[in-house]
Amino acid sequence: MRRRLMAAVAATVAGLLTLTACGGDGGGAAQGTQGGGGEKKVEVFSWWTGPGEADGLKAMREIFQKNNAGLEFFDAAVAGGSGDKARALLTTKLQAGDPPDTFQGHAGAELQGYIKAGQLEPVNFLYDELKLKEVFPQQLIDQISVRGDIYSVPVNIHRSNVMWFNPGVLKEAGVAEVPKTIPEFVTALDKVKKAGKVPLAIGSEWTMVHLLESVLLGSLGTDAYNALWAANADWSGPAMTKALNDFKTVLSYAGDPADDWQPAAKQVADGQAAFTVMGDWAYGYFHNPPDGGLGKKSKTDFDWAPSPGTAGTFMWLSDSFTLPKGAPNRDGAVAWLKVAASKEGQDAFNPKKGSIPARKDADTSLYTDYLADALKDWGSNKLAGSIQHGVVVNDAWRTAINEAVGLFHEDKDVAALQSSLAEAAKNSGQ
Ligand code: GAL
Repeated sequence: MRRRLMAAVAATVAGLLTLTACGGDGGGAAQGTQGGGGEKKVEVFSWWTGPGEADGLKAMREIFQKNNAGLEFFDAAVAGGSGDKARALLTTKLQAGDPPDTFQGHAGAELQGYIKAGQLEPVNFLYDELKLKEVFPQQLIDQISVRGDIYSVPVNIHRSNVMWFNPGVLKEAGVAEVPKTIPEFVTALDKVKKAGKVPLAIGSEWTMVHLLESVLLGSLGTDAYNALWAANADWSGPAMTKALNDFKTVLSYAGDPADDWQPAAKQVADGQAAFTVMGDWAYGYFHNPPDGGLGKKSKTDFDWAPSPGTAGTFMWLSDSFTLPKGAPNRDGAVAWLKVAASKEGQDAFNPKKGSIPARKDADTSLYTDYLADALKDWGSNKLAGSIQHGVVVNDAWRTAINEAVGLFHEDKDVAALQSSLAEAAKNSGQ
């Protein structure tokens, strides 16, 4: 691996009480119990329930079932893009000593939080047995390790800084060139507004933080963005003020917030909106056949480019699976981790998920269209880590950023946002 990987809204307790696991098989079964056919259940906790999210999980689940006759996959996914709701429930479960058998966690600062809290078992034994150190990029392994112990199995690499757009809507609005810079983006958004369409589709609150990270990267530049995560980083200077003003301008073109990222992306696919800035899980949603996806035609119904100002940089994140301490069905969890780590598992999961494999030896012929671009850029671009998806900030810091952005959406006060972000950085304890 060629270069350095850079290193939520808090759900209320009341909200948590209403959250239920998806329970793909009817739900409600206790962990570690026998299934109807005598199989032992393996509770897999994620947030991949929605359209464009569930297809990849299903593909990996099928391999798991095929390879593990005595085990039954129990889908404990909790709905809600970006997993804010899932993580809030997970936190209460872990604190109550009631872990699932395995759960999804982002490589980087988010995972380091679980490690520091002593909630995970190292999985070095799996890396040894399956020779995984040879197949995962070393610097990705660094993001999931503490003092030589490795704590998860990365299943993919996603890209956060993608601008999705509807070519027909751009044409109608007279936007001849795909915007490459933030000023060009603002000009394009304005043209779409004048043409009477929604310039920028946006979803629930976390999607605004997702947009913020792309605007920060595009406005500050990669080196200054990556420097934000060091101790005593400068969040109070004029470059940050300018970046936040850019964010304010871009956000002023957003339509009414949709419920989550899928309905926002759908506005683009259906030609109601021109642009949305979203991670490449949106590709799975646009591209996969119904019902899992929208079955849209690439380059005709939807198209993509790096978010404005970020060409040449891949803002990355990685989903990984863990072995929680006290997993009721530890053997079952290990069986799941083996599928997640395998070439077969990753090559089944990722083409559907809209991600590229974390393994270096995947079958590249399976990654076509958008995914071929992603593979190429992952191998050649500069890297930056995602804020919203757990790479550069821990959960507490991210929650503070989410709250600041939530307030900003109401009051549009750039100075207040900047001081809240500076305060969040100072108090992050990272
Ligand atoms: C991210 C996750 C992706 C995708 C996305 C939208 O946090 O890493 O795999 O699920 O949220 O829900």
